[in-house]
Amino acid sequence: MTSTDILFQPFKLKTLDLPNRIVMAPMTRVMAPDGIPGPANAAYYRKRAEGGVGLILSEGTVVDRPASRNEKDIPVFHGDAALKGWAEVINKVHAAGGKMAPQIWHTGSTKSMQNAWVPDAPVESPSGLLAPDTPRGVAMSDEDIADTIAAFASAAKSAKDLGFDTVEIHGAHGYLIDEFFWSGTNLRDDRYGGKTIAERSTFAREVVAATRAAVGPDFPIILRLSQWKQQDLTARLAPTPDEMTSWLAPLVEAGADILHCSQRRFWEPEFPELDGENGLNFAGWAKKLTGAATISVGSVGLSSDFFTAFGGQGSKQAELDQLINRMEKGEFDLIAIGRVLLTDPDWVAKIRDNRMAELKGFDPASLGELV
Ligand SMILES: Cc1cc2nc3c(=O)[nH]c(=O)nc-3n(C[C@H](O)[C@H](O)[C@H](O)COP(=O)(O)O)c2cc1C
Repeated sequence: MTSTDILFQPFKLKTLDLPNRIVMAPMTRVMAPDGIPGPANAAYYRKRAEGGVGLILSEGTVVDRPASRNEKDIPVFHGDAALKGWAEVINKVHAAGGKMAPQIWHTGSTKSMQNAWVPDAPVESPSGLLAPDTPRGVAMSDEDIADTIAAFASAAKSAKDLGFDTVEIHGAHGYLIDEFFWSGTNLRDDRYGGKTIAERSTFAREVVAATRAAVGPDFPIILRLSQWKQQDLTARLAPTPDEMTSWLAPLVEAGADILHCSQRRFWEPEFPELDGENGLNFAGWAKKLTGAATISVGSVGLSSDFFTAFGGQGSKQAELDQLINRMEKGEFDLIAIGRVLLTDPDWVAKIRDNRMAELKGFDPASLGELV
């Protein structure tokens, strides 16, 4: 059997010191009543720390804008009550020996996947679009944009002040930051829009730069990105390595230390026409092109991708050989695990201690409870 040692190598970057390479992927649970995380949320994260996860990324938690979330029970990351709840979360995780970042988020013009809840304030996005030819909400003014950038910076500063170990900015999956990246939802003719991905990255660069200014030089910043969007799974922001460089290098220069490159299946090559069917994945290319540390993700240890979960499908346990092979070659630095950790909080400890027969795969019933 393949040795899993590579997964248990420590990782250090600036003030972040991780005992292993395994990250809990951010997963929205919509179980923080009125946006305030409580004891159940803290216990849920503590259990994953006890189970040996190297770095826990919280579910998306939203910044201080009137319409920054699309579900009432998505946790917020501003205001005394919520920050008190988050302080309890990080204290519990630290007490169990874990490390953690909040994933800070603005859902842009996306709709709730579960119900018809809408925020009191107008839904906002770069051009008042949810997808090409699909209007939703209002186009943001310069003032809205400046306030949103400040809200991300302020949330990151709060994360640092509360004692979180790092912060992740959610720039993926078709939410606000990604709506600026994507030509399908960003039709602006000011400096936040443009024909190229480099031009449409201005908003994200300003978010990262303001975040960096707020947390200082030593606090690591993770930025999550994806080519695909929930609005269009086939969308690609950067169809060539040159375009990928023009997208990512300025974000790293602005202050992103770790790029979290979201794929639904980590083994899929990003540019197979250049390096073949077993070629580098998104995280592999992002690392090669920018030199930044990267996190990969997508169906690790499972037999089907995460969109099937929303249709109520489970997923069986799968081998780790391909992951280990890629990590041994240094293709990317860290690997995020999503659904498996919902069903099996002890997955990491089981892999570490070679208790393979005890692995559980993913049971969709786990989505309905916070345990
Ligand atoms: C229930 C659920 C909620 C999710 N919520 C988020 C989220 O808040 N932020 C995010 O960036 N990705 C989110 N994702 C995507 C996961 O972070 C991850 O990329 C995806 O599940 C693939 O990993 P997996 O195949 O190991 O589950 C979510 C996925 C699931 C299943």
